[in-house]
Amino acid sequence: MTKITLALTKGRILKETLPLLKSAGIEPEEDIFSSRKLVFGTNIADLRLLILRGSDVPTYVQYGAADLGVAGKDILLEHQGDGYYEPLDLGIARCRLMTALPVGRAPVKGRIRVATKYINVARKFYAQQGRQADLIKLYGAMELAPILDLADEIVDIVDTGNTLKANGLEVRDHIADISSRLIVNKAAFKTKYRAIQYIVDALQQRVM
Ligand code: PRP
Repeated sequence: MTKITLALTKGRILKETLPLLKSAGIEPEEDIFSSRKLVFGTNIADLRLLILRGSDVPTYVQYGAADLGVAGKDILLEHQGDGYYEPLDLGIARCRLMTALPVGRAPVKGRIRVATKYINVARKFYAQQGRQADLIKLYGAMELAPILDLADEIVDIVDTGNTLKANGLEVRDHIADISSRLIVNKAAFKTKYRAIQYIVDALQQRVM
């Protein structure tokens, strides 16, 4: 088999990705969770796994440092990169991209301050709504921003809703349904077609 590199998103998505890979016949050679390593061999010769931050997965795949990747649709919407295909919705790590604001607070009229790590997604969303938004980039704990009056509302992913609830926020507008996707470097899909198609097919059979 041609040498193939599959970039995975660490954290919550990884916990759902590994069982999916296993059911498709792909297993890391050692326990990823009890190791600090970032590259792992697998039971398939010449297939290796990278463990990355989600926001770096499309970058590795775009530039061909990885042939394939597993990343949340939220990350892909924000990344806006080209250089890769998105052949498969893996149906895992489902959540929603939403706006949220303090419980009971009336929406701001006119120019609004929005805190988010999804700057590109938010810019597009508020433009489509015809609302003027000042976007404030944060890297985590977005829920704090409206509480401390850093912003009027936030754009973030919501799964159970527990984080919003625990911080006195509620959802308002739905922006997108999110799940994890398989992405493939466009050039690699041509030059390593058989090896990559084998992996795409194996995963496709498990998610249908
Ligand atoms: C995400 C998101 C919320 C939380 C929502 O953060 O930013 O904080 O999950 O989940 P819930 O609706 O089930 O409470 P995550 O834990 O992925 O960490 P991050 O901020 O590092 O992305």
